[in-house]
Amino acid sequence: MQKLTDKLDRPIVLVGLMGAGKSTVGRRLAKRLGLPFVDSDTEIEEAAGTSTADLFERYGENDFRDGERRLVARLIDGTVRVIATGGGAFVDPGTRQLLNERAITVWLDAPVDVLAERTGRRNTRPLLRTGDRSATLARLAEQRHPLYAEAHIRIRSGDGAHSNVVEAIVSAISAHLDK
Ligand code: S3P
Repeated sequence: MQKLTDKLDRPIVLVGLMGAGKSTVGRRLAKRLGLPFVDSDTEIEEAAGTSTADLFERYGENDFRDGERRLVARLIDGTVRVIATGGGAFVDPGTRQLLNERAITVWLDAPVDVLAERTGRRNTRPLLRTGDRSATLARLAEQRHPLYAEAHIRIRSGDGAHSNVVEAIVSAISAHLDK
């Protein structure tokens, strides 16, 4: 069987809600496949010299999404690598179209209780700083699930081992490329 990475001609992009494990799983997936890894939020923060929370506060969500779309376009410039996106990136119609045309998109779909538990460990997310975290995540899940469902691949992930999620992604990408 031809190696998966020999067949890959485009980046693998993880999408999904905050706390789904995009960065952690993405880093492990990259290691497993011997590919570079990049996190879009980290890139934005490094370029701006400040946190995503600060950018939301200073410029608002719309400007953040514009910057995010430009950055994502640069990140999928042809290098085959694993990219973890911020949870809202794939919700933006322009970013979503770009990603579905030029990358393999993987939706990490985790239940709201798992997302709430994971995001509760740090208070860095602008959309979760006020109000009831579980209620906000449930509302975002309802709004965004139909959009995340446009990703090429959906992987259900719970609170189990990340290594299982990584293997599920590898199998699903293999199947997707053989289609
Ligand atoms: C956001 C998710 C965050 C970050 C920003 C907005 C969202 O990324 O980009 O706070 O709209 O879902 P993570 O999904 O990595 O937390």
